[in-house]
Amino acid sequence: MRANLFVLRAMLALVAALMFGSALAAVPNNRAQPAYAEEQTMLQVEGDTQAAEPGLTSKQSGRVHMDRHYLGQYGSTEANVIVQRGGNTWRHLRNGPIASIAGTLLIVVPLLIVLFYNTVGPAREEPRSGRKLQRFSRWDMQVHWATAISFILLAISGLILTFGKKVMLPWMGHDVFSWFAYLSKYIHNFIGPLFVLCSVVMFFTFLRRNFLHRSDMEWVKQGGGLVSHKHPPAGYFNAGEKAWFWMGVTLLGLVMSITGLVLNFITFGQTRYMLQVANYLHIIGATLYIVAAMGHIYIGTWGTPGAYEAMRHGTVDEAWAKAHHSLWYEQAKQGIAPGGAPPPTPPSSSTGSKTQPSPPRPGPAH
Ligand code: HEM
Repeated sequence: MRANLFVLRAMLALVAALMFGSALAAVPNNRAQPAYAEEQTMLQVEGDTQAAEPGLTSKQSGRVHMDRHYLGQYGSTEANVIVQRGGNTWRHLRNGPIASIAGTLLIVVPLLIVLFYNTVGPAREEPRSGRKLQRFSRWDMQVHWATAISFILLAISGLILTFGKKVMLPWMGHDVFSWFAYLSKYIHNFIGPLFVLCSVVMFFTFLRRNFLHRSDMEWVKQGGGLVSHKHPPAGYFNAGEKAWFWMGVTLLGLVMSITGLVLNFITFGQTRYMLQVANYLHIIGATLYIVAAMGHIYIGTWGTPGAYEAMRHGTVDEAWAKAHHSLWYEQAKQGIAPGGAPPPTPPSSSTGSKTQPSPPRPGPAH
């Protein structure tokens, strides 16, 4: 336990040290010369020549609106656009408030997790029964690991793309940083589509086990027992895990995949304006997804002793299953596949420790 705590603290200190500069990344580059002179000229030209803006009901309205983000001749493509007016706004927003908020969250959330661990502590540990219950199949584990590894690679390379210039370049210099930037860009470009594929497979692999049940409400009402250290009844996945599945894997997975593909394959007529909007959404989605993943990883490792065994070996101790997923444990004993209707909540299962131990029965993989 002490060793775990030490590793956790060391890792978080490292993350905090690496991210420190990101909080300062908000400072707009005062030395940069904004393209105001060109913009003024183009605005003047536009003002002299442009027909009145058609109303919102006009078919032309959207096109003219989009065109207004360019400086140059109007047209259906950007081929003859020299200076894009929105570019400066994008640069200021991305390097300013968006980077500041993202950087702050990426530092504050791991610190809050450490604080939670040190004050509230991890989930109560039950004495081991010594009997194993199958929780994940080999396929489940492969899909989970592939998604997790590609996610971590994308998160690290993505953060280098966002904050590297502010945080790493000043102390490692251009020669070394250019390699980091180059590598990050390539890793991100190639792992991105792989992550999209993993997310889709992950969704269908775990979908059935993440349908909401009435019993999830009880888990929510008891706050998952995170603070009280009780074990509210839960099915194969508890409501917290289901929230991660629907809000994280599914919703944020979609945001990241769609905006990532728009940014990755730029030969489908995307305008610069579209790329800028995709970029805003991509950074915001990445920040939310990364901080949520921190919570997910914490709960699956230090926060719930015994949980990581399922990810590592596919099995869990029966006492662990009975304490943390009592409804699933009952199902497994009856040979019901996860995702089937949960059995009625036994009155004694709310603490998870009053039920008499049942004879060992291996649970189905799924
Ligand atoms: C959840 C996983 C992902 C995370 C955490 C993530 C994170 C990031 C971050 C932080 C950036 C830097 C944005 C900036 O500072 O302007 C970025 C850029 C980018 N991402 Fe992702 N991303 C993820 C998934 C994807 C996917 C699935 C794709 C493609 C299919 C993708 C493609 C791109 C591209 C093309 C860029 C622009 C790189 C550049 O500026 O040249 N990303 N991503």
